[in-house]
Amino acid sequence: MMTTPIYDFVSVYGVTKRIRMHMPGHKGHDLLGFEKIDITEIDGADELYAPKGIIAESEENVSRIFGCKTVYSTEGSSLCIRAMLYLAVQEAIRRGQKPVIAAARNVHKTFLTAAALLDFDIIWIPQTAEEDYLCCKVTPERIAAAIAEAGVQPVAVYLTSPDYLGNICDVAAAAAWCHDHDMLLIVDNAHGAYLRFLEQPLHPIALGADICCDSAHKTLPVLTGGAYLHLADNAPSYRAASLKSAMAMFASTSPSYLILTALDRCNDWLFYEGSAAIQRAVKSVKNCREMLTLHGWKLLGDEPLKLTIAPKTCGWTGTELAKVLEENGIICEFADQDHLVLMPSAFHTRSDFYGVTQALLSIPQRKPITELPPHLPHPERVMTPREAAFRPTERIPAECSVGRVCAELTLGCPPAVPIVMCGERINKEAADCFAYYGIREIAVTAN
Ligand SMILES: Cc1ncc(COP(=O)(O)O)c(C=O)c1O
Repeated sequence: MMTTPIYDFVSVYGVTKRIRMHMPGHKGHDLLGFEKIDITEIDGADELYAPKGIIAESEENVSRIFGCKTVYSTEGSSLCIRAMLYLAVQEAIRRGQKPVIAAARNVHKTFLTAAALLDFDIIWIPQTAEEDYLCCKVTPERIAAAIAEAGVQPVAVYLTSPDYLGNICDVAAAAAWCHDHDMLLIVDNAHGAYLRFLEQPLHPIALGADICCDSAHKTLPVLTGGAYLHLADNAPSYRAASLKSAMAMFASTSPSYLILTALDRCNDWLFYEGSAAIQRAVKSVKNCREMLTLHGWKLLGDEPLKLTIAPKTCGWTGTELAKVLEENGIICEFADQDHLVLMPSAFHTRSDFYGVTQALLSIPQRKPITELPPHLPHPERVMTPREAAFRPTERIPAECSVGRVCAELTLGCPPAVPIVMCGERINKEAADCFAYYGIREIAVTAN
């Protein structure tokens, strides 16, 4: 049995005639249509960062569903990432260690902004020559090599899995290695909330990660901004106790009840229908992959609910392909020269899957495009992200940036994965990448 206490509370409040002498300013008056249930932390509505009532009950529900301690974010995985890294820094201090985190280099920009805020040091686990900037499928050997080269013991290893292209790391192997070496494993699972509901769950917590975040809104039926922070069940109690204060440290004091209601309502869906619906979608994606592969399209990644095409082998760039799909009424998640990313979900119908497959099958194959993306830069680190972020900066044309120190925390095309990190010296390879990925201007530290 699954309850929906937040949904029930706001639904009743939304239809009860009251004079709302509280925030928000719309007072339930419809401009968009959902204002009646957009409330604030009034009496009975509980408090997100000190829950005792309906939010506590709903978070207990979601914890049961995921099989670990789970708390809500109404500010995406971005908020959870800051909280996870804050907890890691706290852990380092508790152990009397310098706060250092080893991270696979395909981090979302929030990792870097958190590094600037929290002032931890980073050991980068670089991409291999075969990987591009969005991908870094690390193994224990690659983690061990990066840490040995740095000669410093990090408190935690940080992975992005699945990555934006749908590659999944061997989280179980990484977790076992981290625990053998007394390190935490933190996973940015923004793209993988649904992995808990597969026939063989691939969720990072099920595979041994200590802590992870999921953007519920990316793959589950939740409004944009809804996310989860999960903590492994065997975590020490002091860590569980500090989850809320870690989130509150960076969060708005006005959490969205629309998003909380969506998260709460999603529990009901996950409990009664979610696994079956997700598993049906996984089968449809598998069929779709098989047909596209037979037709000649090159599919990347191993994530069961993502379709990533490397279209150059069939003579198309991702951007061209996205345009053709758009002309057929299909809007993709992401496209660049080398990739086209589609994000199916349990809410796509058979006819949606059919439409996408047919649209891709009807696109003619052309002579392969042989131009490869430039090699990734391996830039020299000059200062920490924090040092660079707080210095005076100037914006210059990207083609004039060779030799300068990157001061950009958010450098990178969508999907917000930086090519050069804040505090690194821009080299010729980096400038070639800027040109290739259409980065025209860049902030550098002032001379
Ligand atoms: C890998 C990864 N991590 C974190 C985030 C941030 O998630 P959110 O938008 O839920 O804050 C994103 C967003 O696209 C992402 O792709």
